[in-house]
Amino acid sequence: MGEGTLIIGGGVVGLGIGWKLAQQGEPVTILERGEAGGEASWAAAGMLSPATEAHYQEDANLQFGRESMRLYPDFVAELEECSGLRVDYRGEGTLAVAMEADDATVLRELFSFQLEKKLPVKWLSGNELREIEPCLSPYVSAGVLCPMDHQVDNRKLVQALKAAFAKAGGTLHENTEVTQVNCESGAHRGVQAGGKEWRSERLLVAAGSWSSLLPGLPEAARPPVRPVKGQILALKSPSPDFLTHVIRAPEAYFAPKSDGRIVVGATVEEMGFDRTLTAGGIYSLLKGAWETIPGIFELPLQEMVVGFRPGSRDNAPLLGESHIPGIFLATGHFRAGILFTPATAVYMSRLMLEGKVPEPLLPFDPRRFA
Ligand code: FAD
Ligand code: GLY
Repeated sequence: MGEGTLIIGGGVVGLGIGWKLAQQGEPVTILERGEAGGEASWAAAGMLSPATEAHYQEDANLQFGRESMRLYPDFVAELEECSGLRVDYRGEGTLAVAMEADDATVLRELFSFQLEKKLPVKWLSGNELREIEPCLSPYVSAGVLCPMDHQVDNRKLVQALKAAFAKAGGTLHENTEVTQVNCESGAHRGVQAGGKEWRSERLLVAAGSWSSLLPGLPEAARPPVRPVKGQILALKSPSPDFLTHVIRAPEAYFAPKSDGRIVVGATVEEMGFDRTLTAGGIYSLLKGAWETIPGIFELPLQEMVVGFRPGSRDNAPLLGESHIPGIFLATGHFRAGILFTPATAVYMSRLMLEGKVPEPLLPFDPRRFA
């Protein structure tokens, strides 16, 4: 058996945990098939939305999201200090808005649930919303201000994690696909990648939507995750004050970035690993976006991307040791992997180094699907 930790996958999850492990002196190697952060972590909108994405029967996700938000400011400060790079963490807050009576009814339900969960939220009229964001359509009838729902530039986050990981002593091998996980007598023996064998004491599977497809990964360690396709696009903002808050509308959301992109997302499709950008997908996003902010009509369309959210059967992540000793899983972050990055990195690294499951990870034991 080798020493240290091998991580399969260099998205925000693998990089975040890798950085925290390396900071504590653990020898860590990340094996990444393509470019680190080039998949879901690149495609994402970077919204940090525990309150706006709160759902009935997903209490564990809500708690984990709140914990991650608690950690975010210090995590970002340390990351920026260690990497020398900025990640555009923005705290203006999020406005969830309704247009028609039906939307307002749905939003009222979310608002009641948020109040029940003691989330800091405020109901606003259409006019009050337009005082905050004058670009909103006159048809926007009501909304909820969620001041705790912030955002980050996920692409800058990836670059900063990469730099901080290297500075902490971690080794990243890009363009190095893991083609085989070797197990013998119920224990892992290393992996095959880039034409050679890599050995380690611990193996962490952080391969996002591909985590269940790793050849040789024993059934007992195979996470039930699937890809959930998202088409997403970016418009070029005409000025920094055109839009400052994250907006969640019924058919589209907006995340304005400080580099002038307004990210507009996203479709949610069960289409396997289909990377096709479709007329229907992009049309529905632009229609939903235009109905909410008519002024986007003239804006340059900068980019259209497809990404794959790693979804699990209960929409919650899988975080912990698998049934095979020494094989750990950190996947299934679905629609909240950017939000969950600090909590995943901090608590998974603690678990892997200390052996005791930290309390915030208790609901996410990967063995719950056995
Ligand atoms: P990934 O970023 O996909 O990384 C997995 C990595 O594993 C990839 O780089 C891949 O190349 C590598 N890999 C796979 N197989 C192998 C192999 N055999 N060998 C080596 N490497 C391998 N979350 C939020 O919190 N806020 C948002 O606003 C948000 N918006 C989103 C919008 C869209 C359109 C999408 C698609 C997702 C969004 N998400 C958002 C979700 C978030 O992006 C994901 O939950 C998160 O990025 C998952 O990170 P990951 O590291 O697990 O996966
Ligand atoms: N959390 C936003 C998305 O998954 O599209």
